[in-house]
Amino acid sequence: MESTTPLKKLIIVFFTLLIQLQTYYSSASALPKEAHPTKSGYLPVNTTTGSAIFYAFYESQQHPTNNTSLSQTPIVIWLQGGPGCSSMTGNLYEIGPWLVAPSLRHNVEHLELNPNPGSWNRIFGLLFLDNPIGTGFSIASTPEEIPTDQEGVARHLFIAIRRFIDLDPLFKSRPIYITGESYGGKYVPSIGYYILKRNPVLPVSERVNLHGVAISNGLTDPETQVGTYALHSYYLGLINEKQKTQLEKLQSEAIRLTKAGNWNDATDARLDVLGFLENVTGLATLFDFRRYRPYDTNWVVDFLKNPEVKKALGVDESMVFEECSDVVSAALHSDVMKSVRFKVEYLVKNTKVLLFQGQCDLRDGVFSAESWMKKMNWEGLQRFLDAERDVWYVNGVLAGYVQKSDNLSHAVVLAAGHFLATDQGVNSQALIEDWILDRGLFVNKHIQTLFRDL
Ligand SMILES: *[C@@H]1O[C@H](CO)[C@@H](O)[C@H](O)[C@H]1NC(C)=O
Ligand SMILES: *[C@@H]1O[C@H](CO)[C@@H](O)[C@H](O)[C@H]1NC(C)=O
Ligand SMILES: *[C@@H]1O[C@H](CO)[C@@H](O)[C@H](O)[C@H]1NC(C)=O
Ligand SMILES: *[C@@H]1O[C@H](CO)[C@@H](O)[C@H](O)[C@H]1NC(C)=O
Ligand SMILES: *[C@@H]1O[C@H](CO)[C@@H](O)[C@H](O)[C@H]1NC(C)=O
Repeated sequence: MESTTPLKKLIIVFFTLLIQLQTYYSSASALPKEAHPTKSGYLPVNTTTGSAIFYAFYESQQHPTNNTSLSQTPIVIWLQGGPGCSSMTGNLYEIGPWLVAPSLRHNVEHLELNPNPGSWNRIFGLLFLDNPIGTGFSIASTPEEIPTDQEGVARHLFIAIRRFIDLDPLFKSRPIYITGESYGGKYVPSIGYYILKRNPVLPVSERVNLHGVAISNGLTDPETQVGTYALHSYYLGLINEKQKTQLEKLQSEAIRLTKAGNWNDATDARLDVLGFLENVTGLATLFDFRRYRPYDTNWVVDFLKNPEVKKALGVDESMVFEECSDVVSAALHSDVMKSVRFKVEYLVKNTKVLLFQGQCDLRDGVFSAESWMKKMNWEGLQRFLDAERDVWYVNGVLAGYVQKSDNLSHAVVLAAGHFLATDQGVNSQALIEDWILDRGLFVNKHIQTLFRDL
């Protein structure tokens, strides 16, 4: 056995200290002070059971201390899809002020936060909700309490949003925009519709000041959308004619089961369509047909394992974060194929609606959205379909296309997949800002024409 000399002891102590210091340094800086949300924590949806929705709110970067303008600054709410996927993916991987990414420090790869130049809170407040309960850091006291349909989802969301507004007297007057992605194509119309129906029967102080809804790459009218994969993939050159015929057969089966109201089997039939397409194309992900590897959403999962990060967000250290909850997905299994198109039809008559997609999403992309939009029962539809599709530039560079008429806007974001803002952050920011502020291609052309006529 080797004897330990005092010098060796000293060296050991020195390196032990160094390692401890480094561990301390990396955990303490995992979520630097400037990256903390303005507010975060829990919004109870049922005080009897203790179920609560987790939220993270980031105040607008441009009006942090000015109450006058702050009381008019819009608040954008973001709802992730799934069903059952956490909005922390939207926050830390898509549209939040800080995005997580790997980086090398002392030759060790670790995850760190970087400021997001395309953040949606540049000039708006930005609120992420882990919805429905049981998703992400949200708490479902029992699995039975997790909503099994969109009415249940909307009821909880309404309570949570009302509770959020009550957190600060300055929130009361602020215009609220509800946005989301993918299965958010169900949630966003459902909470929007719920708000419009509830507001008139509530005292003014309990209403939600809804000013519009926006859906990115959404699933809204599944019966129509499930019928688009064969043609879409065929014209992209991803499947041949024989495979197209096979896929059309699977699609027809999903549509037949949906029409029959056989909801669980219809959901499974849609999964067969997607599974077949994944198998025969060999694509890494249907979320973006250009990608050779899936989106790196696991970075968010790894980042949120850190107890220091959980503590800073107001989450109990014992909470285990999952990107998507199987329990929530199972609770909403029979909801998947149910259409909420009628809710969008109601919304477009009463507030403004933006539908936008990344051009390279093969799951809920442009063709998929246009296929149901043209079926809308809305008096403005023909004017919308006849409207010009404008070429859209950001800083002089081609960004996509925008078509607008009355309260309905449609935008295509080029060189982007399902996680549109991950691929085109700054363009997604320009899009949401212009749409909310009625600027750029979203100016009200009707009013322009009136001025010209005068
Ligand atoms: C809260 O939970 C109780 C017990 O399960 C239930 O009776 C009640 O309807 C729930 N309230 C809401 C608003 O969901
Ligand atoms: C803004 O209003 C809050 C109360 O809602 C007050 O505490 C704060 O001092 C005000 N800030 C400024 C900059 O006026
Ligand atoms: C606060 O906002 C109002 C309205 O936008 C503006 O007129 C005013 O100059 C701002 N004040 C400060 C101190 O930024
Ligand atoms: C896709 O491939 C897997 C593995 O070969 C197979 O188990 C699955 O049944 C296939 N799915 C469809 C829908 O063809
Ligand atoms: C657009 O929404 C407004 C309410 O903001 C409504 O008065 C108007 O009728 C809607 N337009 C159409 C064509 O539905």
